[in-house]
Amino acid sequence: MAQILSGLAVAADVKERVRKAVEELKRQGVTPCLATVLVGDDPASATYVNSKQKTAKELGIATRDHRLKASFTQQELLDLVQLLNSDPEVHGILVQLPLPKHIDEFAITSSISPLKDVDGLTPYSAGMLLNNMAHLKPCTPSGVMEILDFYKIDVAGMDAVIVNRSNLVGLPLALMLVEKNATVTVCHSRTKNLAEKLRNADLVVTAVGNRERFTLTADMVKKGAIVIDVGTSRHAGKLAGDVDFDAVKEKASWITPVPGGVGPMTIAMLMKNTVSAASISRVMQ
Ligand SMILES: NC(=O)c1ccc[n+]([C@@H]2O[C@H](COP(=O)([O-])OP(=O)(O)OC[C@H]3O[C@@H](n4cnc5c(N)ncnc54)[C@H](OP(=O)(O)O)[C@@H]3O)[C@@H](O)[C@H]2O)c1
Repeated sequence: MAQILSGLAVAADVKERVRKAVEELKRQGVTPCLATVLVGDDPASATYVNSKQKTAKELGIATRDHRLKASFTQQELLDLVQLLNSDPEVHGILVQLPLPKHIDEFAITSSISPLKDVDGLTPYSAGMLLNNMAHLKPCTPSGVMEILDFYKIDVAGMDAVIVNRSNLVGLPLALMLVEKNATVTVCHSRTKNLAEKLRNADLVVTAVGNRERFTLTADMVKKGAIVIDVGTSRHAGKLAGDVDFDAVKEKASWITPVPGGVGPMTIAMLMKNTVSAASISRVMQ
């Protein structure tokens, strides 16, 4: 039976370190500040932003909370980002995705100052990640890496399969795992023989978020594999991941639950990035 990789425990550890770093920065005269920007009234996005605001406040991080109507134009949003870019009291800028259809997400993300890119999604941060030089990395994949690190799981030499190829999760995670000397296969909706690839994996990370389209079942998992479930969806009336947890935990060596797995890590890593951004601003003063 698999041991649980508790994202809650790892997130608590990260947040404690962030709390101490915030206190230290405040002693040096810097109050880390995170600005969140939410456009429109998507309830899931509002919930995510509320959690980010709440966690920041709990850790002593100052916040700005910009909530804008869905009719806000791309130019107005670019102007707001520029204002936040040039505000010396703001250290981190998070524009909650997805944005309404009339706004070009890439244009907005690209306009965020790399020094304040706490989501790690600007082209600059992506390029730095490719060169193993990023200070601010995307929160969800770095949360996965933090979990592995906390439980002292060394991925060097492992065959890892990621089911996701988004800029938010799969692609940056592939780079992070390769940096740690894993051999990585990135899969997606057009992958052939996915189950066979999964059965050969020492480490599986899945982030599909649609149980009808994809469920990781026990027959797809090698005995002793490590299974990390990033997916979030509703299944049988409950919050669930991609993994058939009860069956897969009988075969895996380590497994993340949903909820309580990768979810809490994403916010914890955002807080960590905010403190890193504030520290960078201090060095550059
Ligand atoms: N826990 C957290 O903190 C956290 C953070 C971020 C995201 N998430 C969750 O992670 C999931 C993915 O997020 P995302 O933003 O990366 O979404 P996304 O861009 O929609 O990515 C979904 C990925 O799943 C692949 N896919 C879809 N159907 C498939 C199938 N039948 N077989 C294999 N692959 C399939 C897609 O392939 P194609 O590229 O070919 O379409 C795509 O690469 C969502 O459930 C999201 O809620 C959780």
